[in-house]
Amino acid sequence: MGATPATPSGSIRVRPTAMPTITRDIDAAVERLRAGELVAIPTETVYGLAADARNPAAIARVYALKQRPASNPLIVHVAAPDWVDDWAVEIPDAARRLMAACWPGPLTLVLAARADVPAIVTAGQDSVAIRQPDHPLCLELLNRFGRAVVAPSANRYMSISPTTPDHVVRQFPESDLLILDGGPCAVGVESTIVSLLPDEPPRLLRPGMLARAAVERILGCVLADAHDTSVRVPGQHERHYAPALPAWRFTDIDADRLADPRLGWLLCGQGLEVAGPTIDLGNDPDAYARRLYAALYRLEHSGVDGICVQLPPDTEPWRAIRDRLQRATLPMPEVAPGDLEQPR
Ligand code: TXA
Ligand code: MG
Repeated sequence: MGATPATPSGSIRVRPTAMPTITRDIDAAVERLRAGELVAIPTETVYGLAADARNPAAIARVYALKQRPASNPLIVHVAAPDWVDDWAVEIPDAARRLMAACWPGPLTLVLAARADVPAIVTAGQDSVAIRQPDHPLCLELLNRFGRAVVAPSANRYMSISPTTPDHVVRQFPESDLLILDGGPCAVGVESTIVSLLPDEPPRLLRPGMLARAAVERILGCVLADAHDTSVRVPGQHERHYAPALPAWRFTDIDADRLADPRLGWLLCGQGLEVAGPTIDLGNDPDAYARRLYAALYRLEHSGVDGICVQLPPDTEPWRAIRDRLQRATLPMPEVAPGDLEQPR
């Protein structure tokens, strides 16, 4: 408080702070990118925090605003598959097939990087992650800008990814960020990441709503798993996508916990009677994914002490959703969460 000036009457003068702007003005967004500044962009998966992918100083601002460790590389977003040649070498036939079948769409490919890709994009690795997002406003922005952008999800490191402009405002309330308003994201969960590196089997690095089986059909082979490889996927920490409140996951639950009004609930269509604020996202994976992060933001601000998340079934259509929920929550403790802080 020492730096805040007091008026003679003793009242505190509020220092004016920056505020984000939500807009549909693509030219204003292009201007910011050209000036080496950041723009929050809509994609079909989640909102991204974009910077000119050839401008290391601009990219450094992305890391700084997100408070993201420099060891965590970024995805390059392109307007068309032929832009990939500016970023990758030794592009295998399999990559061309996936681009033709799935782009624009929620699929990121990890390919051997060209030597001139800035090290701040790849975190010093010799591979680069790249995708063509499926959002008309975003593609229009990329085409008018005429260059690729890097875009991690537009949230502070380790917190919930945004799927509306309003979520981005909540993440960076005191920045002067320009947020391009493309409405709510249609997919709602981050892209599927597949690596297609030379001398490595094709590998699923991050599950997304584009199913593993769909990728395998196009490739004509089975994908290897992310673990058991030298390929680093530094963003895939155990805990991630986490709400600001304690959050626990469960499959079965005691009736007395359901009666605790201090707990908020995220359910998946199995009709539990609970006392606290509840959001039931239903039992269709696509509809669930679209609303998942918005539901976590809502529960975070519903005045509860903690959030209880009912895990959806352990089946392939729910893979990406279960992955995000496992990272956002801890296992439900043996004692009721509401009793944890109480003296015994
Ligand atoms: O749907 C998405 O992919 C969103 C939207 C904005 O496009 N972006 C996104 O970015 O999720 P981010 O930064 O939150 O996650 C990028 C992930 C990280 O886990 C990172 O480690 C991985 O991509 N990644 C980036 N470059 C890589 C590389 N060269 N090799 C392996 N993994 C890489
Ligand atoms: Mg992220």
